[in-house]
Amino acid sequence: MNTPTATAPTAHPAVVSWVDEIADLTAPDSVVWCDGSADEWDRLTTQLVEKGTFVRLERKPNSFWCASDPEDVARVEDRTFICSQFRADAGPTNNWMDPVDMKTMMTEHYRGAMAGRTMYVIAFCMGPLDAAEPKFGVQITDSEYVAVSMQIMTRSGTAVWDRLTTGTAFVKCLHSVGAPLHEGRTDTPWPCDHTKYISHFPEERTIWSYGSGYGGNALLGKKCYALRIASKMAKDEGWLAEHMLILKLTSPEQKVHYIAAAFPSSCGKTNLAMLDPTLDGWTAETIGDDIAWLRFGEDGRLHAVNPEAGFFGVAPGTGLLTNPHAMDTIERGNSIFTNVALTDDGDIWWEGLTGTPPAHLTDWKRRDWTPTSGEPAAHPNSRYCTPIAQCPTVAPEWDDPAGVPLSAIFFGGRRATTIPLVTESLSWRHGVFLAATLSSETTAAATGKVGVVRRDPMAMLPFLGYHVGDYFQHWLDIGEKTSPELLPKIFYVNWFRRGDDDEFLWPGFGENSRILEWALRRIEGTAEAAATPLGHVPTPGALDLTGLKVDPTTIGAALRVDPTEWVTELRLIDELFATIGGNRLPDVLREELAALRQRLAAA
Ligand code: GDP
Ligand code: PGA
Ligand code: MN
Ligand code: MN
Repeated sequence: MNTPTATAPTAHPAVVSWVDEIADLTAPDSVVWCDGSADEWDRLTTQLVEKGTFVRLERKPNSFWCASDPEDVARVEDRTFICSQFRADAGPTNNWMDPVDMKTMMTEHYRGAMAGRTMYVIAFCMGPLDAAEPKFGVQITDSEYVAVSMQIMTRSGTAVWDRLTTGTAFVKCLHSVGAPLHEGRTDTPWPCDHTKYISHFPEERTIWSYGSGYGGNALLGKKCYALRIASKMAKDEGWLAEHMLILKLTSPEQKVHYIAAAFPSSCGKTNLAMLDPTLDGWTAETIGDDIAWLRFGEDGRLHAVNPEAGFFGVAPGTGLLTNPHAMDTIERGNSIFTNVALTDDGDIWWEGLTGTPPAHLTDWKRRDWTPTSGEPAAHPNSRYCTPIAQCPTVAPEWDDPAGVPLSAIFFGGRRATTIPLVTESLSWRHGVFLAATLSSETTAAATGKVGVVRRDPMAMLPFLGYHVGDYFQHWLDIGEKTSPELLPKIFYVNWFRRGDDDEFLWPGFGENSRILEWALRRIEGTAEAAATPLGHVPTPGALDLTGLKVDPTTIGAALRVDPTEWVTELRLIDELFATIGGNRLPDVLREELAALRQRLAAA
C-alpha cells in the first residue's frame, strides 16, 4: 500500500496521523485523498458503472441509477448510538453504549474491513466556507458511492483542504461498508454488512459508522454531523442544529420573509422547500430542505444557515404536479438516483412521477416490472441526490455565511387525526411546548413499521446528540436571549389530517402557500384568528381560498380541535413527559401541559 502521508494534501498532524492509524487498522489496498474535482467525479462514477453499482442514464446528463442491497434502504434507528461518557447524558430517547466498549467492539469490525478496497479521505465543510467559524469534517470511507454523494451533499475537496490548516478543529467521520474483499471474493453492486453500527461520540466530536451504504447512515456530514454532533455543539455554544427546511417568501407587496419548518423524515420538508405557491403574486425561493443551523445575528434575530449543498429527496410522490421545481432540478442532471425504477430507454421512474406507469421497468430490486406486478417499482424511501445550486428556485442567499433572519418557525407531522391544519402558538414557551410534544406517523425513511404514531420532539427524535430534557431547556433558554418581538413566531401545522372517507382534508403542496400567507399576515397583524385550547386557528374566511375547490366544512374539519381526540393525545404527552423524568423535564413544559389540560376541560 502507498503511504497515506506521502500523498496528503494537508499537513494537519491530527488528520495525517488519524488517516495513518485507520489505514493500518482497516488495511485498504490504497488511499485516495479526494480533491472534489470534476475529474474525480468522472473517474469514480465510471468505476461505479464498470463494477455494476451505477447505470449511466441516457435521458439525463451526468446522472446515474443505482439500487441498494434490499436490506440497506433506510436509516437504522435501532442501530444508532449516542456514546456519551455517561448514559444519563444520552437521555431516554437514544440508544447508548459506553464509548470505550463501543470503540473496542467496533475496532474489531473495522480490522481489515477495507481489504481489497480503496480508502477515500474526504475533507468537507458544513455550511458556507466563509463562515465566521466554518464547521469542518473529514470522512474516511471505502465506498465510491459515498465519495461521489458527498461531492453533491457537502462543500468538499481542495478548497476545504486549503482551509483545514494545522490546529483547525474537524469532526472525525469514519465509515466502512464492512465488506472486505479477501482473496478470491468478488464485489457486489452494493456492498454492506448485515451488522450495522451508527455510533456517535458527542464529547469527542467523532462518528463511527459501519455496515451500511445508505445516505443517512453513510453520508456522515448529514444526519450524524449536522444534526447529532452539531446539536451537542450547538448546546455547548448557544445555538440550534435543527431538522428544518429554510424558505424565502416574497409577498405581492414585495415584502420578504424567511421561514424554517421542522417535519419528521418523509413528512414534506423538501416539498415545502421548493414550494410553487398557488396564491397569486407570491414567490417562494429555496434555501435549505432538511437541516438548518440557527444562530443569533447582531440584529438580535435568529438567523438560519443551510449546512448542506445538495438535496437527498424522497422520490415517490415527486412529479410535475406536486413539485415541478424538484423535477426541473433533476432534469439538469448531475444526480444520483437510488432505489427508484429504471426505464427501458435509460431514464428513471417512481410512483407519482407520472399518472400512468411505463409498460415495462426494471424495479429497485433489479427485476422486470410491469403495471400488473402488484408491488411498487420504486422503494418508498427511494431518493434523488442532486446539487442545490442547480435548483431553479434557489435563493442567492442560500450560501450567505450570515444566514437569513427568521420570521416564523413551523413544526408539523403526519397525523390522520387530532392535529389541526394550522395553529399559532401563544408565546415562545407555548410554541416550544407544541414542538416538544410533536407527533407523527412513522415513515419508510427509517427501518421498522410504517404508520405508527410516535412523539417526535421538534422532529428531532432520531437526531438528538444529547438528553431530550436538556434539549427542551436549551430551546427555552434560546427564547430568553433576545427580546420577544425579535423571536420567530412558532406555528404548528398538519398537512396530513384525513376525513371520514380517509382522504386528506387539505390538498397540500402548492396550496400550503395559503397557510403560510395566513401565518405571515398574523405576524404583520392583518389576519383574523380564533382562540382554541391549542392556540389560534384561522377564523372562517381568514384563509385566502380563492380558486380552491374545497368546501368550508372540509376546512372546518381540518382546523378542528376536538376535545375527545385530545383525551388520548394528553395521555400520550403524559407518557412522553414521564419517560423524560422529573429532574430533566423543564417545569415550564409541565406548566404548559397543565394549562392546555385546563383549556381543554373548559372547552
Ligand atoms: P421530507 O422527507 O420531510 O423532506 O418530505 P418530502 O417533501 O420529501 O415528502 C415526503 C412525502 O410526502 C412525499 O411522498 C411527498 O409527495 C409527500 N408530501 C409532501 N408534502 C405534502 C403535502 O403537502 N401533502 C401531502 N398529502 N403529501 C405531501
Ligand atoms: P428527509 O431526510 O427528512 O428528507 O426524509 C432524510 C432522513 O431524515 O432520513
Ligand atoms: Mn431528514
Ligand atoms: Mn427531504
